[in-house]
Amino acid sequence: MTSLRKIGRGARLCVASHNAGKVREIGDLIAPFGVSAHSAGELGLPEPEETETTFTGNALLKARAAAQASGLVSLADDSGLAVHALNGDPGIYSARWAGRTKDFRLAMQKVEDALQAQGATDRSAHFVCALALVWPDGEEAVFEGRVDGVLVWPPRGDKGFGYDPMFIPEGYALTFGEMEPDAKHAMSHRAKAFAQMVAERFAP
Ligand code: IMP
Repeated sequence: MTSLRKIGRGARLCVASHNAGKVREIGDLIAPFGVSAHSAGELGLPEPEETETTFTGNALLKARAAAQASGLVSLADDSGLAVHALNGDPGIYSARWAGRTKDFRLAMQKVEDALQAQGATDRSAHFVCALALVWPDGEEAVFEGRVDGVLVWPPRGDKGFGYDPMFIPEGYALTFGEMEPDAKHAMSHRAKAFAQMVAERFAP
């Protein structure tokens, strides 16, 4: 059996995002492995349009573009909320439902209105995070994390972001918006995808 190629100490990773908050969060997660994060923005790379139809497809598209343009191993993520009674919406369009002003009160209201319009009794949903790691020579790895839960109305809590205030993870009584960030980060879709990636592709 051949062993998988790993990212070792001293490596420079391109994080295929122009979102400074996301780059900082990823930088913090990979710093313990001696790996530094450099954002696509910092490297002056263009931002590709997310034209794929799945989280994994969009993460791969962004990581491939960054690896080609930077010559560095590149990491991209794509995430969102999938509501089961809405056939997985807003899904890959989770950010777009908040409109140009990134108003997530509005986005949550749209989700609630769509559930009400259907008379839906099933309020289950899950968050997904897809991570794609692409080497400049074309090697690729993808990881997906998921956390299941139910949607509540009205939204509760102001500790999170996005759809957090209307999402209660399975087995809990608090919404992600009410949880301490450390508690959420220990169990989130993003944490699960990262744990898989680190175990498989980062040298200890
Ligand atoms: P992306 O940056 O294109 O992947 O957009 C992901 C969108 O999904 C975000 O703007 C949020 O609306 C939503 N989302 C993803 N993860 C979370 C989360 O942990 N909590 C709340 N909303 C999330």
